[in-house]
Amino acid sequence: DEARAEGVSAFSFTEVEAGVDETHHVAEGYDADVLLRWGDKVFADSPEFDPMNQTAESQSKQFGYNNDYVGFIPLDGADDHGLLVVNHEYTNAELMFPNWASIGKDGEGKDKVMMGEFTKDIVDIEMAAHGGTVIEIRKENGKWVPVLDGTMNRRLHVGTEMALSGPAAGHDRVKTNADPSGTKVLGTLNNCAGGVTPWGTWLMAEENFHGYFVGELPEGHPETVNYERYGAPRGWYNWGTHHDRFDVSKEPNEPNRFGWVVEVDPTDPNSVPKKRTALGRMKHEGAESVLNKDGRVVFYCGDDERFDYVYKFVTAGTYNPDDRAANMDLLDDGTLYVARFNADGTLDWMPLVHGEGPLNADNGFTSQADVVIEARRAGDLLGATKMDRPEDVQPNAMTGKVYCMLTNNTRRKAGDENAANPRADNAFGHIIEISETDGDFAATKSTWEILIKCGDPSVAEVGASFSSATTKDGWFGMPDNCAIDADGRLWVSTDGNSAKKTGRTDGLWAVDTEGDARATSKLFFRVPVGAEMCGPLFDPTGETVFLAVQHPGDEGLATYEQPATRWPDFRDDMPVRPAVVAVTKQGGGKIGMA
Ligand code: FEO
Ligand code: CA
Ligand code: CA
Ligand code: CA
Repeated sequence: DEARAEGVSAFSFTEVEAGVDETHHVAEGYDADVLLRWGDKVFADSPEFDPMNQTAESQSKQFGYNNDYVGFIPLDGADDHGLLVVNHEYTNAELMFPNWASIGKDGEGKDKVMMGEFTKDIVDIEMAAHGGTVIEIRKENGKWVPVLDGTMNRRLHVGTEMALSGPAAGHDRVKTNADPSGTKVLGTLNNCAGGVTPWGTWLMAEENFHGYFVGELPEGHPETVNYERYGAPRGWYNWGTHHDRFDVSKEPNEPNRFGWVVEVDPTDPNSVPKKRTALGRMKHEGAESVLNKDGRVVFYCGDDERFDYVYKFVTAGTYNPDDRAANMDLLDDGTLYVARFNADGTLDWMPLVHGEGPLNADNGFTSQADVVIEARRAGDLLGATKMDRPEDVQPNAMTGKVYCMLTNNTRRKAGDENAANPRADNAFGHIIEISETDGDFAATKSTWEILIKCGDPSVAEVGASFSSATTKDGWFGMPDNCAIDADGRLWVSTDGNSAKKTGRTDGLWAVDTEGDARATSKLFFRVPVGAEMCGPLFDPTGETVFLAVQHPGDEGLATYEQPATRWPDFRDDMPVRPAVVAVTKQGGGKIGMA
Protein backbone atom coordinates (compact mmCIF):
# COMPACT_ATOMS: atom_id res chain seq x y z
CA ASP A 1 0.00 0.00 0.00
CA GLU A 2 1.72 3.16 -1.21
CA ALA A 3 0.23 5.31 1.53
CA ARG A 4 2.09 3.18 4.04
CA ALA A 5 5.50 3.47 2.37
CA GLU A 6 8.29 4.07 4.86
CA GLY A 7 8.25 7.56 6.27
CA VAL A 8 5.07 8.54 4.46
CA SER A 9 2.15 9.46 6.64
CA ALA A 10 -1.00 7.37 6.21
CA PHE A 11 -2.96 10.61 6.48
CA SER A 12 -3.50 13.27 3.88
CA PHE A 13 -5.06 16.58 4.91
CA THR A 14 -3.96 20.14 5.60
CA GLU A 15 -3.32 20.51 9.28
CA VAL A 16 -5.39 22.90 11.38
CA GLU A 17 -3.46 25.56 13.28
CA ALA A 18 -3.52 24.89 17.02
CA GLY A 19 -4.87 27.69 19.20
CA VAL A 20 -7.77 28.84 21.34
CA ASP A 21 -10.90 30.72 20.31
CA GLU A 22 -14.68 30.63 20.64
CA THR A 23 -15.45 28.19 17.87
CA HIS A 24 -14.43 24.89 16.30
CA HIS A 25 -12.05 24.47 13.37
CA VAL A 26 -11.75 21.58 10.95
CA ALA A 27 -9.17 20.86 8.26
CA GLU A 28 -9.63 22.74 4.99
CA GLY A 29 -11.99 21.01 2.57
CA TYR A 30 -14.13 19.45 5.31
CA ASP A 31 -17.48 20.41 6.78
CA ALA A 32 -18.16 20.10 10.50
CA ASP A 33 -21.95 20.24 10.93
CA VAL A 34 -23.69 20.36 14.27
CA LEU A 35 -25.97 17.30 14.39
CA LEU A 36 -27.42 17.28 17.94
CA ARG A 37 -27.18 19.80 20.76
CA TRP A 38 -28.16 19.64 24.42
CA GLY A 39 -31.93 20.23 24.54
CA ASP A 40 -32.63 19.18 20.94
CA LYS A 41 -35.69 17.02 20.31
CA VAL A 42 -35.15 13.26 20.40
CA PHE A 43 -38.81 12.49 19.56
CA ALA A 44 -41.28 14.16 17.22
CA ASP A 45 -43.36 15.18 20.24
CA SER A 46 -40.46 16.41 22.40
CA PRO A 47 -40.96 19.95 23.69
CA GLU A 48 -38.88 22.72 22.13
CA PHE A 49 -35.82 23.59 24.21
CA ASP A 50 -36.72 26.50 26.49
CA PRO A 51 -33.67 27.10 28.68
CA MET A 52 -35.44 29.68 30.86
CA ASN A 53 -38.16 27.16 31.78
CA GLN A 54 -36.48 23.77 31.63
CA THR A 55 -38.13 20.84 33.45
CA ALA A 56 -37.10 17.25 34.14
CA GLU A 57 -39.99 16.04 32.03
CA SER A 58 -38.86 18.08 29.02
CA GLN A 59 -35.24 17.08 29.54
CA SER A 60 -36.18 13.39 29.56
CA LYS A 61 -37.39 13.80 25.95
CA GLN A 62 -34.50 15.98 24.79
CA PHE A 63 -30.83 15.35 24.02
CA GLY A 64 -28.90 15.21 27.29
CA TYR A 65 -25.88 17.15 28.53
CA ASN A 66 -22.15 16.56 28.01
CA ASN A 67 -22.13 14.11 25.12
CA ASP A 68 -19.16 11.74 25.44
CA TYR A 69 -19.09 8.31 23.73
CA VAL A 70 -20.65 8.19 20.26
CA GLY A 71 -21.48 4.90 18.52
CA PHE A 72 -23.13 4.13 15.19
CA ILE A 73 -25.15 1.00 14.45
CA PRO A 74 -26.14 0.65 10.77
CA LEU A 75 -29.77 -0.29 10.09
CA ASP A 76 -30.62 -2.80 7.38
CA GLY A 77 -26.95 -2.95 6.40
CA ALA A 78 -27.17 0.58 5.00
CA ASP A 79 -24.27 3.07 4.94
CA ASP A 80 -26.54 6.09 5.08
CA HIS A 81 -29.00 5.08 7.79
CA GLY A 82 -28.49 3.91 11.34
CA LEU A 83 -28.76 4.47 15.06
CA LEU A 84 -26.54 6.99 16.74
CA VAL A 85 -25.96 6.13 20.40
CA VAL A 86 -24.53 8.84 22.64
CA ASN A 87 -23.50 8.89 26.31
CA HIS A 88 -24.33 11.94 28.43
CA GLU A 89 -21.60 11.80 31.03
CA TYR A 90 -22.32 14.58 33.50
CA THR A 91 -23.88 18.01 33.98
CA ASN A 92 -22.49 21.52 34.52
CA ALA A 93 -25.25 23.13 36.60
CA GLU A 94 -23.55 26.54 36.50
CA LEU A 95 -23.79 26.55 32.68
CA MET A 96 -27.27 24.99 32.46
CA PHE A 97 -29.45 27.03 34.77
CA PRO A 98 -30.20 30.75 34.23
CA ASN A 99 -30.01 33.20 37.14
CA TRP A 100 -28.63 30.43 39.33
CA ALA A 101 -24.83 30.52 39.64
CA SER A 102 -22.89 33.72 40.30
CA ILE A 103 -19.34 34.93 40.83
CA GLY A 104 -18.47 35.37 44.48
CA LYS A 105 -15.38 35.13 46.70
CA ASP A 106 -13.75 32.12 48.28
CA GLY A 107 -12.29 32.06 51.82
CA GLU A 108 -9.09 33.74 50.61
CA GLY A 109 -10.89 36.53 48.78
CA LYS A 110 -10.37 35.01 45.32
CA ASP A 111 -13.18 35.02 42.74
CA LYS A 112 -15.06 31.73 42.44
CA VAL A 113 -18.28 30.41 40.93
CA MET A 114 -20.97 30.23 43.62
CA MET A 115 -23.57 27.56 42.96
CA GLY A 116 -27.27 28.21 43.48
CA GLU A 117 -29.57 26.05 45.54
CA PHE A 118 -29.85 22.42 44.51
CA THR A 119 -33.63 22.22 44.75
CA LYS A 120 -35.44 19.02 43.81
CA ASP A 121 -36.36 20.59 40.44
CA ILE A 122 -32.70 21.32 39.67
CA VAL A 123 -31.57 17.86 40.80
CA ASP A 124 -34.27 16.12 38.77
CA ILE A 125 -33.25 18.01 35.61
CA GLU A 126 -29.64 16.99 36.23
CA MET A 127 -30.70 13.35 36.59
CA ALA A 128 -32.72 13.51 33.36
CA ALA A 129 -29.78 15.12 31.50
CA HIS A 130 -27.46 12.21 32.37
CA GLY A 131 -27.50 8.78 30.72
CA GLY A 132 -27.75 8.37 27.00
CA THR A 133 -29.64 8.85 23.76
CA VAL A 134 -30.52 6.46 20.95
CA ILE A 135 -31.57 8.32 17.82
CA GLU A 136 -32.07 7.25 14.24
CA ILE A 137 -30.05 9.30 11.75
CA ARG A 138 -30.06 9.33 7.98
CA LYS A 139 -27.80 10.86 5.32
CA GLU A 140 -29.72 13.15 3.00
CA ASN A 141 -27.89 14.94 0.19
CA GLY A 142 -24.59 14.10 1.83
CA LYS A 143 -25.55 15.42 5.30
CA TRP A 144 -26.64 13.50 8.39
CA VAL A 145 -30.00 14.45 9.91
CA PRO A 146 -31.86 13.10 12.96
CA VAL A 147 -35.05 11.12 12.25
CA LEU A 148 -37.33 12.32 15.04
CA ASP A 149 -40.07 9.79 14.36
CA GLY A 150 -37.60 6.89 14.47
CA THR A 151 -39.32 4.03 16.30
CA MET A 152 -36.14 3.10 18.20
CA ASN A 153 -35.40 6.59 19.53
CA ARG A 154 -34.91 6.53 23.27
CA ARG A 155 -33.60 8.55 26.18
CA LEU A 156 -32.00 6.68 29.06
CA HIS A 157 -31.37 8.53 32.32
CA VAL A 158 -31.02 8.06 36.06
CA GLY A 159 -34.65 6.96 36.34
CA THR A 160 -34.51 4.22 33.68
CA GLU A 161 -35.02 0.69 35.01
CA MET A 162 -32.01 -1.56 34.50
CA ALA A 163 -31.01 -5.07 35.55
CA LEU A 164 -27.90 -6.33 37.27
CA SER A 165 -26.64 -9.49 35.60
CA GLY A 166 -23.60 -11.73 35.92
CA PRO A 167 -21.68 -12.75 39.06
CA ALA A 168 -22.79 -9.88 41.35
CA ALA A 169 -26.51 -10.03 40.45
CA GLY A 170 -28.67 -10.91 43.44
CA HIS A 171 -25.73 -10.85 45.88
CA ASP A 172 -26.36 -9.45 49.37
CA ARG A 173 -23.88 -6.62 48.71
CA VAL A 174 -26.12 -5.16 45.95
CA LYS A 175 -29.46 -5.45 47.80
CA THR A 176 -31.20 -2.27 48.93
CA ASN A 177 -34.47 -1.30 50.64
CA ALA A 178 -35.97 -0.49 47.25
CA ASP A 179 -34.59 -3.65 45.66
CA PRO A 180 -34.38 -6.61 48.05
CA SER A 181 -33.71 -8.87 45.05
CA GLY A 182 -30.39 -7.18 44.24
CA THR A 183 -31.18 -7.38 40.54
CA LYS A 184 -33.03 -4.13 39.67
CA VAL A 185 -31.30 -0.75 39.50
CA LEU A 186 -32.71 2.59 38.55
CA GLY A 187 -30.52 4.29 36.02
CA THR A 188 -26.98 4.80 34.95
CA LEU A 189 -24.68 7.78 35.46
CA ASN A 190 -21.35 9.29 34.49
CA ASN A 191 -21.30 7.31 31.27
CA CYS A 192 -17.96 8.25 29.80
CA ALA A 193 -16.59 6.27 26.86
CA GLY A 194 -18.19 3.02 25.73
CA GLY A 195 -18.42 0.66 22.81
CA VAL A 196 -20.61 -1.16 20.33
CA THR A 197 -20.50 -4.97 20.32
CA PRO A 198 -20.23 -7.15 17.18
CA TRP A 199 -23.92 -8.01 17.72
CA GLY A 200 -24.96 -4.37 17.65
CA THR A 201 -25.57 -3.56 21.29
CA TRP A 202 -24.28 -0.42 22.97
CA LEU A 203 -22.00 -0.43 25.99
CA MET A 204 -22.08 2.54 28.35
CA ALA A 205 -19.19 2.69 30.81
CA GLU A 206 -20.07 4.08 34.26
CA GLU A 207 -17.05 6.13 35.31
CA ASN A 208 -16.97 8.56 38.27
CA PHE A 209 -19.90 7.07 40.19
CA HIS A 210 -18.32 7.90 43.54
CA GLY A 211 -19.07 11.62 43.01
CA TYR A 212 -22.83 11.12 43.12
CA PHE A 213 -23.11 9.85 46.69
CA VAL A 214 -23.30 11.81 49.92
CA GLY A 215 -23.49 10.91 53.61
CA GLU A 216 -21.42 8.64 55.80
CA LEU A 217 -21.51 4.88 56.10
CA PRO A 218 -22.64 3.63 59.50
CA GLU A 219 -19.61 3.12 61.81
CA GLY A 220 -17.85 -0.17 61.08
CA HIS A 221 -19.97 -0.92 58.01
CA PRO A 222 -18.56 -3.86 56.00
CA GLU A 223 -18.29 -1.74 52.81
CA THR A 224 -15.94 0.80 54.41
CA VAL A 225 -12.71 -0.55 52.88
CA ASN A 226 -14.39 -1.14 49.52
CA TYR A 227 -15.74 2.42 49.31
CA GLU A 228 -12.45 3.97 50.39
CA ARG A 229 -10.70 2.20 47.53
CA TYR A 230 -13.19 3.83 45.10
CA GLY A 231 -13.28 7.24 46.80
CA ALA A 232 -17.01 7.00 47.60
CA PRO A 233 -18.98 8.91 48.74
CA ARG A 234 -17.48 12.03 47.23
CA GLY A 235 -20.45 14.45 47.22
CA TRP A 236 -19.90 16.19 43.87
CA TYR A 237 -23.68 16.15 43.37
CA ASN A 238 -26.47 16.78 45.85
CA TRP A 239 -28.87 14.14 44.65
CA GLY A 240 -28.84 12.43 48.06
CA THR A 241 -30.62 15.44 49.58
CA HIS A 242 -33.74 14.61 47.57
CA HIS A 243 -33.25 10.92 46.75
CA ASP A 244 -32.33 8.67 49.68
CA ARG A 245 -30.55 6.12 47.54
CA PHE A 246 -27.71 8.58 46.86
CA ASP A 247 -27.10 8.96 50.62
CA VAL A 248 -24.98 6.06 51.89
CA SER A 249 -26.13 6.59 55.47
CA LYS A 250 -29.62 5.62 54.28
CA GLU A 251 -28.85 3.16 51.50
CA PRO A 252 -25.33 1.85 52.13
CA ASN A 253 -25.22 -0.67 49.25
CA GLU A 254 -26.29 1.66 46.44
CA PRO A 255 -22.69 2.54 45.36
CA ASN A 256 -22.11 -1.17 44.65
CA ARG A 257 -24.79 -0.91 41.95
CA PHE A 258 -22.77 1.61 39.91
CA GLY A 259 -19.34 1.45 38.29
CA TRP A 260 -20.33 -1.22 35.78
CA VAL A 261 -20.48 -1.60 32.02
CA VAL A 262 -24.12 -1.30 30.92
CA GLU A 263 -25.31 -3.15 27.80
CA VAL A 264 -28.25 -1.63 25.92
CA ASP A 265 -30.12 -3.16 22.98
CA PRO A 266 -30.76 0.02 20.99
CA THR A 267 -33.08 -1.71 18.53
CA ASP A 268 -35.72 -2.28 21.23
CA PRO A 269 -36.74 0.88 23.11
CA ASN A 270 -38.51 -1.26 25.72
CA SER A 271 -35.51 -3.47 26.45
CA VAL A 272 -34.13 -3.41 29.99
CA PRO A 273 -30.43 -2.43 29.92
CA LYS A 274 -28.16 -4.86 31.75
CA LYS A 275 -25.28 -3.97 34.02
CA ARG A 276 -22.73 -6.64 33.06
CA THR A 277 -20.98 -7.26 36.37
CA ALA A 278 -18.60 -9.87 34.91
CA LEU A 279 -16.56 -6.93 33.52
CA GLY A 280 -15.77 -5.72 37.02
CA ARG A 281 -16.60 -2.60 38.99
CA MET A 282 -14.32 0.37 38.50
CA LYS A 283 -14.32 3.89 37.11
CA HIS A 284 -14.94 2.39 33.70
CA GLU A 285 -13.75 4.63 30.91
CA GLY A 286 -14.78 2.54 27.90
CA ALA A 287 -15.48 -0.96 26.63
CA GLU A 288 -14.20 -1.27 23.07
CA SER A 289 -14.28 -4.77 21.63
CA VAL A 290 -12.84 -6.93 18.92
CA LEU A 291 -13.94 -10.26 17.48
CA ASN A 292 -11.08 -12.68 18.09
CA LYS A 293 -10.04 -15.19 15.43
CA ASP A 294 -11.46 -18.07 17.52
CA GLY A 295 -14.90 -16.39 17.69
CA ARG A 296 -14.63 -15.19 21.26
CA VAL A 297 -15.05 -11.47 21.82
CA VAL A 298 -12.51 -9.40 23.76
CA PHE A 299 -13.35 -6.14 25.55
CA TYR A 300 -10.75 -3.63 26.74
CA CYS A 301 -11.35 -1.35 29.72
CA GLY A 302 -9.41 1.38 31.48
CA ASP A 303 -10.05 2.32 35.11
CA ASP A 304 -9.61 6.09 35.00
CA GLU A 305 -7.84 6.79 38.25
CA ARG A 306 -4.31 7.72 39.11
CA PHE A 307 -2.41 4.48 39.79
CA ASP A 308 -5.21 2.20 38.61
CA TYR A 309 -5.30 -0.55 36.05
CA VAL A 310 -5.93 -1.71 32.50
CA TYR A 311 -8.29 -4.69 32.07
CA LYS A 312 -9.66 -6.95 29.39
CA PHE A 313 -12.58 -9.36 29.37
CA VAL A 314 -12.69 -12.46 27.18
CA THR A 315 -16.07 -14.07 26.62
CA ALA A 316 -16.39 -17.79 27.34
CA GLY A 317 -18.79 -18.30 24.44
CA THR A 318 -18.27 -17.45 20.80
CA TYR A 319 -20.03 -14.90 18.64
CA ASN A 320 -22.71 -16.26 16.32
CA PRO A 321 -23.03 -13.97 13.28
CA ASP A 322 -26.19 -15.77 12.13
CA ASP A 323 -28.21 -15.55 15.33
CA ARG A 324 -28.23 -12.20 17.12
CA ALA A 325 -30.28 -13.52 20.04
CA ALA A 326 -27.64 -16.16 20.78
CA ASN A 327 -25.12 -13.40 21.57
CA MET A 328 -27.25 -11.35 23.90
CA ASP A 329 -25.83 -12.78 27.15
CA LEU A 330 -22.22 -13.41 26.05
CA LEU A 331 -21.14 -10.70 28.49
CA ASP A 332 -22.31 -12.66 31.53
CA ASP A 333 -19.75 -15.42 31.20
CA GLY A 334 -16.04 -15.06 30.63
CA THR A 335 -12.73 -14.10 32.21
CA LEU A 336 -11.69 -10.67 33.43
CA TYR A 337 -7.94 -10.00 33.28
CA VAL A 338 -5.83 -7.20 34.73
CA ALA A 339 -2.57 -6.05 33.13
CA ARG A 340 0.98 -6.22 34.45
CA PHE A 341 3.39 -4.37 32.17
CA ASN A 342 6.83 -5.88 32.80
CA ALA A 343 10.06 -3.90 32.42
CA ASP A 344 11.30 -6.34 29.75
CA GLY A 345 8.51 -5.28 27.41
CA THR A 346 6.29 -8.28 28.10
CA LEU A 347 2.76 -8.04 29.41
CA ASP A 348 0.91 -10.48 31.64
CA TRP A 349 -2.85 -10.54 31.55
CA MET A 350 -3.69 -11.96 34.99
CA PRO A 351 -7.10 -13.58 35.51
CA LEU A 352 -9.34 -12.20 38.27
CA VAL A 353 -10.92 -15.50 39.21
CA HIS A 354 -12.25 -16.36 42.65
CA GLY A 355 -10.22 -19.08 44.34
CA GLU A 356 -7.12 -18.52 42.22
CA GLY A 357 -4.01 -17.13 43.92
CA PRO A 358 -4.80 -14.60 46.65
CA LEU A 359 -8.44 -14.12 45.60
CA ASN A 360 -9.82 -16.23 48.42
CA ALA A 361 -11.74 -15.95 51.68
CA ASP A 362 -8.58 -15.11 53.64
CA ASN A 363 -8.53 -11.84 51.71
CA GLY A 364 -12.27 -11.27 51.90
CA PHE A 365 -13.21 -12.76 48.54
CA THR A 366 -15.83 -15.45 49.17
CA SER A 367 -17.17 -15.66 45.62
CA GLN A 368 -16.73 -14.18 42.14
CA ALA A 369 -19.28 -11.54 43.19
CA ASP A 370 -16.75 -10.20 45.70
CA VAL A 371 -14.02 -10.25 43.05
CA VAL A 372 -15.99 -8.19 40.54
CA ILE A 373 -17.40 -5.76 43.15
CA GLU A 374 -13.88 -5.08 44.43
CA ALA A 375 -12.02 -5.53 41.15
CA ARG A 376 -9.50 -2.88 42.16
CA ARG A 377 -8.52 -4.63 45.38
CA ALA A 378 -8.28 -7.92 43.47
CA GLY A 379 -5.88 -6.21 41.04
CA ASP A 380 -3.86 -4.84 43.97
CA LEU A 381 -3.38 -8.35 45.35
CA LEU A 382 -2.23 -9.68 41.98
CA GLY A 383 0.38 -6.94 41.56
CA ALA A 384 -1.11 -5.23 38.52
CA THR A 385 0.80 -2.22 37.14
CA LYS A 386 -0.24 1.14 38.56
CA MET A 387 -0.91 3.35 35.55
CA ASP A 388 -1.20 7.08 34.81
CA ARG A 389 -5.03 7.19 34.52
CA PRO A 390 -6.07 4.62 31.89
CA GLU A 391 -8.72 6.08 29.59
CA ASP A 392 -9.88 4.61 26.26
CA VAL A 393 -8.25 1.28 25.31
CA GLN A 394 -8.82 0.52 21.64
CA PRO A 395 -8.07 -2.71 19.79
CA ASN A 396 -7.16 -2.60 16.10
CA ALA A 397 -8.64 -5.71 14.48
CA MET A 398 -6.48 -5.22 11.37
CA THR A 399 -3.11 -5.35 13.16
CA GLY A 400 -3.53 -7.21 16.47
CA LYS A 401 -2.41 -4.08 18.31
CA VAL A 402 -4.20 -2.32 21.15
CA TYR A 403 -3.83 1.39 21.99
CA CYS A 404 -4.01 2.52 25.56
CA MET A 405 -4.53 6.21 26.40
CA LEU A 406 -2.89 7.21 29.69
CA THR A 407 -4.12 10.73 30.22
CA ASN A 408 -1.83 12.14 32.95
CA ASN A 409 -0.78 11.70 36.56
CA THR A 410 0.85 14.62 38.29
CA ARG A 411 0.79 12.71 41.58
CA ARG A 412 3.41 10.23 40.38
CA LYS A 413 6.50 11.10 42.35
CA ALA A 414 10.14 10.78 41.34
CA GLY A 415 11.13 7.25 42.32
CA ASP A 416 7.62 5.87 41.70
CA GLU A 417 8.06 5.59 37.93
CA ASN A 418 7.79 2.18 36.27
CA ALA A 419 8.68 1.10 32.74
CA ALA A 420 5.14 1.64 31.44
CA ASN A 421 4.72 4.95 33.29
CA PRO A 422 8.20 6.42 33.01
CA ARG A 423 7.62 10.07 33.86
CA ALA A 424 7.23 11.53 37.34
CA ASP A 425 4.78 14.45 37.51
CA ASN A 426 3.28 13.20 34.24
CA ALA A 427 1.28 16.28 33.23
CA PHE A 428 0.74 15.36 29.58
CA GLY A 429 0.18 11.60 29.52
CA HIS A 430 1.31 8.95 27.05
CA ILE A 431 0.09 6.22 24.72
CA ILE A 432 1.03 2.55 25.04
CA GLU A 433 0.80 0.12 22.15
CA ILE A 434 0.16 -3.50 23.10
CA SER A 435 0.95 -6.24 20.57
CA GLU A 436 -1.24 -9.23 21.40
CA THR A 437 0.76 -12.38 20.64
CA ASP A 438 0.08 -13.81 17.16
CA GLY A 439 -2.81 -11.35 16.82
CA ASP A 440 -4.69 -13.42 19.42
CA PHE A 441 -6.59 -10.84 21.48
CA ALA A 442 -7.29 -13.52 24.10
CA ALA A 443 -3.54 -14.07 24.67
CA THR A 444 -2.39 -13.90 28.28
CA LYS A 445 1.28 -13.11 27.55
CA SER A 446 1.92 -10.31 25.08
CA THR A 447 4.29 -7.39 24.55
CA TRP A 448 4.03 -3.62 24.82
CA GLU A 449 5.91 -0.43 24.02
CA ILE A 450 5.31 3.27 24.41
CA LEU A 451 4.04 4.84 21.17
CA ILE A 452 4.25 8.48 22.29
CA LYS A 453 5.08 10.41 25.41
CA CYS A 454 2.87 13.47 25.00
CA GLY A 455 3.48 17.18 25.53
CA ASP A 456 5.42 19.93 23.76
CA PRO A 457 8.47 18.40 22.06
CA SER A 458 10.21 21.80 21.95
CA VAL A 459 10.47 21.89 25.75
CA ALA A 460 13.24 19.43 26.61
CA GLU A 461 12.19 18.89 30.26
CA VAL A 462 8.79 17.61 29.12
CA GLY A 463 10.43 14.60 27.49
CA ALA A 464 7.84 14.23 24.73
CA SER A 465 8.49 11.72 21.95
CA PHE A 466 6.42 12.73 18.92
CA SER A 467 8.29 12.13 15.64
CA SER A 468 10.39 14.99 14.31
CA ALA A 469 7.89 15.34 11.44
CA THR A 470 5.26 16.50 13.95
CA THR A 471 4.65 20.25 13.59
CA LYS A 472 4.05 22.89 16.28
CA ASP A 473 0.31 22.24 15.71
CA GLY A 474 0.59 18.47 15.70
CA TRP A 475 1.58 17.67 19.26
CA PHE A 476 -0.91 17.34 22.09
CA GLY A 477 -1.20 16.60 25.77
CA MET A 478 -3.66 14.43 27.69
CA PRO A 479 -4.88 11.73 25.30
CA ASP A 480 -8.33 10.51 26.37
CA ASN A 481 -10.43 8.88 23.64
CA CYS A 482 -9.30 7.28 20.43
CA ALA A 483 -10.69 5.51 17.39
CA ILE A 484 -9.50 3.24 14.62
CA ASP A 485 -10.96 4.17 11.24
CA ALA A 486 -12.09 1.89 8.40
CA ASP A 487 -8.50 1.77 7.12
CA GLY A 488 -6.98 0.79 10.45
CA ARG A 489 -5.55 4.25 11.23
CA LEU A 490 -5.39 5.71 14.75
CA TRP A 491 -7.06 8.98 15.75
CA VAL A 492 -6.69 10.44 19.24
CA SER A 493 -8.81 13.03 21.04
CA THR A 494 -7.81 14.92 24.16
CA ASP A 495 -9.08 16.28 27.49
CA GLY A 496 -7.35 19.11 29.28
CA ASN A 497 -5.44 21.20 26.73
CA SER A 498 -5.95 24.93 27.27
CA ALA A 499 -4.38 28.32 26.61
CA LYS A 500 -2.60 28.11 29.94
CA LYS A 501 -1.51 24.49 29.82
CA THR A 502 -0.56 23.87 26.17
CA GLY A 503 -1.54 27.01 24.23
CA ARG A 504 -4.25 25.09 22.40
CA THR A 505 -7.71 23.67 22.89
CA ASP A 506 -8.50 19.99 22.84
CA GLY A 507 -9.06 18.37 19.49
CA LEU A 508 -8.78 15.36 17.23
CA TRP A 509 -5.33 14.33 16.04
CA ALA A 510 -4.39 11.79 13.36
CA VAL A 511 -1.54 9.62 14.66
CA ASP A 512 0.68 7.45 12.47
CA THR A 513 1.60 4.08 13.92
CA GLU A 514 3.47 2.38 11.05
CA GLY A 515 6.86 2.72 9.38
CA ASP A 516 9.14 5.75 9.70
CA ALA A 517 6.11 8.02 10.09
CA ARG A 518 5.32 6.31 13.40
CA ALA A 519 4.51 8.76 16.22
CA THR A 520 3.77 11.61 13.80
CA SER A 521 0.65 13.49 14.82
CA LYS A 522 -1.43 16.06 12.91
CA LEU A 523 -4.27 18.28 14.12
CA PHE A 524 -7.52 17.63 12.19
CA PHE A 525 -10.17 19.35 14.33
CA ARG A 526 -10.14 21.57 17.37
CA VAL A 527 -12.91 22.43 19.81
CA PRO A 528 -14.09 25.82 21.10
CA VAL A 529 -12.63 27.21 24.32
CA GLY A 530 -13.44 25.28 27.48
CA ALA A 531 -14.48 22.09 25.69
CA GLU A 532 -13.06 18.60 25.73
CA MET A 533 -13.03 16.41 22.60
CA CYS A 534 -15.04 13.21 22.97
CA GLY A 535 -16.27 10.60 20.51
CA PRO A 536 -14.52 10.18 18.07
CA LEU A 537 -16.29 7.60 15.93
CA PHE A 538 -15.83 6.83 12.24
CA ASP A 539 -18.78 5.40 10.36
CA PRO A 540 -18.10 2.10 8.56
CA THR A 541 -17.37 3.84 5.25
CA GLY A 542 -14.75 6.12 6.81
CA GLU A 543 -16.50 9.08 5.19
CA THR A 544 -17.89 10.56 8.42
CA VAL A 545 -16.32 11.12 11.78
CA PHE A 546 -18.74 11.91 14.60
CA LEU A 547 -17.23 14.12 17.28
CA ALA A 548 -18.68 15.02 20.68
CA VAL A 549 -17.86 18.52 21.90
CA GLN A 550 -18.16 18.21 25.68
CA HIS A 551 -18.50 21.05 28.23
CA PRO A 552 -17.80 23.93 25.81
CA GLY A 553 -17.49 27.31 27.55
CA ASP A 554 -16.28 25.70 30.78
CA GLU A 555 -13.12 27.75 31.23
CA GLY A 556 -12.29 30.21 33.98
CA LEU A 557 -15.20 31.64 35.96
CA ALA A 558 -17.99 30.40 33.69
CA THR A 559 -21.70 30.71 34.42
CA TYR A 560 -24.90 30.48 32.36
CA GLU A 561 -24.79 34.23 31.87
CA GLN A 562 -21.03 34.37 31.22
CA PRO A 563 -19.73 31.24 29.53
CA ALA A 564 -16.33 31.37 27.82
CA THR A 565 -18.18 30.93 24.51
CA ARG A 566 -21.80 30.65 23.33
CA TRP A 567 -20.98 27.88 20.85
CA PRO A 568 -22.68 26.55 18.77
CA ASP A 569 -25.66 28.94 18.48
CA PHE A 570 -23.88 32.20 19.35
CA ARG A 571 -27.22 33.71 20.40
CA ASP A 572 -27.73 35.92 23.43
CA ASP A 573 -30.90 33.99 24.31
CA MET A 574 -29.25 30.57 24.09
CA PRO A 575 -26.74 29.06 26.52
CA VAL A 576 -23.53 27.43 25.39
CA ARG A 577 -24.44 23.84 24.49
CA PRO A 578 -22.51 20.57 24.25
CA ALA A 579 -23.15 19.06 20.82
CA VAL A 580 -22.30 16.20 18.48
CA VAL A 581 -20.72 17.28 15.21
CA ALA A 582 -20.58 15.23 11.98
CA VAL A 583 -17.49 15.85 9.88
CA THR A 584 -17.57 15.01 6.16
CA LYS A 585 -15.36 15.81 3.21
CA GLN A 586 -16.66 18.40 0.77
CA GLY A 587 -17.52 16.51 -2.39
CA GLY A 588 -17.38 13.16 -0.56
CA GLY A 589 -14.65 10.64 0.16
CA LYS A 590 -12.81 9.21 3.11
CA ILE A 591 -11.68 11.40 5.98
CA GLY A 592 -7.94 12.06 5.90
CA MET A 593 -7.36 10.48 2.48
CA ALA A 594 -6.17 12.39 -0.58
FE1 FEO B 1 -14.75 10.73 31.65
FE2 FEO B 1 -11.91 9.34 31.98
O1 FEO B 1 -12.91 10.61 31.19
CA1 CA C 1 -12.93 10.19 28.78
CA1 CA D 1 -12.80 4.64 21.38
CA1 CA E 1 -10.72 12.52 30.73
